Amino acid sequence: MKSGALRFPMSPKPFLRPTWAEVSLPDLRSNLKRLRRRLPARTRLLFVVKGDAYGHGALACSRCAQGSGVVDWLGVSSVEEGAALRDGGIRLPILVLGSLYPFESFRAAAFYGLAPTVASLESARRLAAMMRRLGRRAECHLKVETGMGRIGMTPRSALEALGFLSSRREVRVGGVYTHFACAETSRAFTEMQLGRFTRFLSAAASLGLRVGIRHAANSAAAMEHPASRLDMVRPGLAAYGLYGGFKPVLTLKTKIVFIKTVKTGTPIGYGATFRARRRSRIATIPVGYADGFSRGLSNKGSVLVRGAKCPVVGNVAMDMTMIDVTRAPGTHVGDEVVLIGASGGQSITAAEMARALGTIPYEVACSISGRVPRVHLP
Ligand SMILES: Cc1ncc(COP(=O)(O)O)c(C=O)c1O
Repeated sequence: MKSGALRFPMSPKPFLRPTWAEVSLPDLRSNLKRLRRRLPARTRLLFVVKGDAYGHGALACSRCAQGSGVVDWLGVSSVEEGAALRDGGIRLPILVLGSLYPFESFRAAAFYGLAPTVASLESARRLAAMMRRLGRRAECHLKVETGMGRIGMTPRSALEALGFLSSRREVRVGGVYTHFACAETSRAFTEMQLGRFTRFLSAAASLGLRVGIRHAANSAAAMEHPASRLDMVRPGLAAYGLYGGFKPVLTLKTKIVFIKTVKTGTPIGYGATFRARRRSRIATIPVGYADGFSRGLSNKGSVLVRGAKCPVVGNVAMDMTMIDVTRAPGTHVGDEVVLIGASGGQSITAAEMARALGTIPYEVACSISGRVPRVHLP
């Protein structure tokens, strides 16, 4: 017998535990192209890839966007996220949507060629001082608060910041933007925010201040409020197919690893919260809350096996979940199970899972943990 360490023959290592997320790059590309077609030719497209591209894998999605020829900008939440894209060969302009703190972050942003968001007068001053010290010139976008109540300057402070930066050679204001709080739910609130932003833009114009690219719209606003498209839109959700009219890009899958027939009354899982109501076939799948398959789906969620919807029975555990496959005859160990996605004419969407959990599709997608390999289909 040979001694010594066994080595995996491939790099990156193949995964053995059969739980994975498939991300269809052709579907992502076609959603991006659909977005492009639905926008006026002069409207730029910023694709939001923050949060590891809403759990879809930021580098692979950004490379796909870069190759698609229809994306003008990428949006990330932090300098770290942007730096990882630059290290991976992404050349598209990148806007850091978060408020940079500590201010030292401006140095790294400049190094990686990332456009920071300036959301306060103090950060405008710190950015200018830092660039002066470094002898560099930075491009930034100013964030104007119009009703989101998160980060951003009041229109008055934003005018002051614009005035200040217009006198500094070391900082160029490449854009100004705001963000909608209720684009999916309230036309009136969105119009109120757009009104505030438009009045700010008019005031800047009347003072002769250059604002660069004007942008406001996320997916819902870009689709439902054409007036909000301005010079650029910033969709995330629609590109991933998590917004109506776009094709979902991600499928979360696993395989049955264990199966048994149980008699009426048999308890299942931690806390014995489920007891078989009849003779049943119960399968175990290797997915749990450590993968982002929420414990909130205990005795509530369902999955697809052989095109049939099978309920989750008992409590979801950290690494394993039980499902009742009685209604999917012929099921055996090794059968594929779809947790999010389509199978045999049936589907379970992230939106449906989000409703069961009392949350939003963004959180469902972002919660798929780093332990789940992402397989990007070319
Ligand atoms: C500033 C900003 N712009 C755009 C988006 C994209 O929004 P959506 O995914 O709804 O299109 C987000 C996402 O939360 C955001 O924070």
